[in-house]
Amino acid sequence: MRNSILTLMILVLVASIAYAGMAMPGTDGGELYKYITETSRYTNWELWPGKGKLYKGTEPHGVFLTTYVNAEAIKSLGMGKHVFMPGSIIAKENYSPKKQYMALTVMYKVKGYNPDAGDWFWVKYSPDGTVLKEGKVKGCIKCHSQAKDNDYNRTDAKAGKM
Ligand code: HEC
Repeated sequence: MRNSILTLMILVLVASIAYAGMAMPGTDGGELYKYITETSRYTNWELWPGKGKLYKGTEPHGVFLTTYVNAEAIKSLGMGKHVFMPGSIIAKENYSPKKQYMALTVMYKVKGYNPDAGDWFWVKYSPDGTVLKEGKVKGCIKCHSQAKDNDYNRTDAKAGKM
């Protein structure tokens, strides 16, 4: 009896881990948008540690930025690591000088997707969710390569050390 309960518990555990893994979106801008706006709403995630809403950004993204990080990304930052674990998603809202919402730029870490550039999947959306750029976007990678040893993150990850 005890054994069968244990077996059942293990089965449930394995099944839920498998389900959680399956639930992650593929490297597709539309699929990722659905995930971050419906399955796991990015606006419910934590803000980049140490940054509030509408903090001052630099070119080219926007004068004001609000950056959200999912649980995987938070865990990666929490470990004081500069290497994000697979499944990490960073979603950044970009605002004009008049604080008008202009675009959403996202980095999504997918193991094996692009080993030459940190395995990041890059996407730029218009405010209505239209995919403007996606994939191994050269422009994104080129500029973010300046922070190659910070796992392509241009925002100070050390600020996120907890
Ligand atoms: C010319 C340089 C440049 C280009 C091109 C660029 N970025 Fe960035 N990005 C930055 C800088 C600098 C930051 C840090 C925030 C700030 O100060 O603006 C940043 C921050 C980010 C962040 C927050 C995490 C981090 O790395 O700090 C995301 C997500 C992001 N960019 C996505 C993109 C995407 C997607 C593209 C391509 C569509 C892109 N970026 C193109 C310079 C660039």
